[in-house]
Amino acid sequence: MAWLLITALLVRLFAHSGASMIEPDLCSTSCECLQGLPFVVECKNDDLSQIPHLEAEPYPFEWALFFDVNKISKITAMPTTDNLILLSFNDNPILEIEDMAFANLTKLRRLTLKQCSLTGDVFTLDAFKGPRNEEDGADPLPLEYLDVSHNDIQSLGDHAFRHFDNLKTLIISDNPFHDFDDTTSKAFGELIGVQTLDLSRVQIKRIPEKFFSRMRQLKELILAGNNFMVVPDEVNYIQSLERLVLDNNPIKVLSKNDKSYFHGPSQLSQLHLSYMPDLNKIDAEAFYNLDNLKVVTISYNPNLNFIHKMAFASSGIHLKKVHLNNNNLAVLDNELLDWAALEEIDIQNNPWVCDCRIVWFTKEPLENLNANKPQLTEYIICAKPNDATGQSLPYLASHDYAFKCPEIEKVTNPYYYGPLIVTTIFVGALLLLSATVLCTYVLYQKSRSSGFSGTTVQYRRADFSNNLESIAENVYA
Ligand SMILES: *[C@@H]1O[C@H](CO)[C@@H](O)[C@H](O)[C@H]1NC(C)=O
Repeated sequence: MAWLLITALLVRLFAHSGASMIEPDLCSTSCECLQGLPFVVECKNDDLSQIPHLEAEPYPFEWALFFDVNKISKITAMPTTDNLILLSFNDNPILEIEDMAFANLTKLRRLTLKQCSLTGDVFTLDAFKGPRNEEDGADPLPLEYLDVSHNDIQSLGDHAFRHFDNLKTLIISDNPFHDFDDTTSKAFGELIGVQTLDLSRVQIKRIPEKFFSRMRQLKELILAGNNFMVVPDEVNYIQSLERLVLDNNPIKVLSKNDKSYFHGPSQLSQLHLSYMPDLNKIDAEAFYNLDNLKVVTISYNPNLNFIHKMAFASSGIHLKKVHLNNNNLAVLDNELLDWAALEEIDIQNNPWVCDCRIVWFTKEPLENLNANKPQLTEYIICAKPNDATGQSLPYLASHDYAFKCPEIEKVTNPYYYGPLIVTTIFVGALLLLSATVLCTYVLYQKSRSSGFSGTTVQYRRADFSNNLESIAENVYA
């Protein structure tokens, strides 16, 4: 901390004394320079069609360089620059990256190439090659963070990520992969150190087998906005995974029977399953073997109306925060969660049926919520029964509302439909029976009066093929 301050002071001192030697050279061009740590150089919005000619840069402190919003189509090899830690080319039409373009940037940790019309072809074997390490013959880049989101990458050559041994975060969302072919899968397999992988909106509906098997450090996986119809089974095997986001996928049910459920990974502590337009049911043991699960967010699923009380049966023991707000839930089961152990529960904005089945929640769970997170009680609203519609559950609970049981309602409510249905069925059956008896009697009378005789009756099957018809004729002739 102390040295940070000292360096900051030094930078300030030198800058004020007008010593240009301690600013990056680019500050004497049209680029804008912003003091700080890191020192920021912005060559943005400048109509540049190529990277300006740069000399080896002796600037002694960490700095960041932005070439955003220009017309650069080729990233040429950057000269030796020991203290550049961030380089950004967002919003440039980049068609080509020269071999070893970044190899002499010995401290480059972050590179962003968002919205650059990149295709897989830009990721040649040597574009991201780093300086050779004489000891082990490898040549990785020091890069820890790469953002190549919002591009046009459909597939990758198998060595596209060959030199990314140090990469911890890859944001490759919003690219039209559609499906990961073999070479693309191999490319991802080389990301052995990646901890955060953002694969949102890449239009995939499946994940190839063992896709994550070499990513032994993967902690955070974001698969939002794809076309998964079921929970992709591969996620269950990522032993190191701690956070998973599956928001906004067309998953309909979470159920073992439909092979759409979680049976791992055992380290997972945060799970997000929100904004799913089709999700309507979460079955028993949908979350199985998630022994470390602590935070679950299942929100804004407009069709979710059923969560089995045993859904978290083997995983719910350690849950700390559960968000079930803005779904279509009507009944909450006491057995669903270990309510006393929860630090936070959000059940707001659901069409709750406020009858005797929800009374248990108005006791300890609601008291705890009132004490710890009162803001999460505001929109616990009842949809039924009629005399509670639109009212807040905490309000009703504190005003001695009756919370009747549906059985009692049957007896006291004269408009209850149950007896009506039974009566209708009974009357219907009676009518049918009498009609049958009447018809039989009439037919019997008729056949008697026309001189019924078994030998004169001709059977003939209509609407069959000729073959069948002829068989029928043979049989009945
Ligand atoms: C990168 O460094 C190597 C070795 O010092 C040097 O030969 C090469 O010219 C440098 N590349 C650029 C683009 O400056």
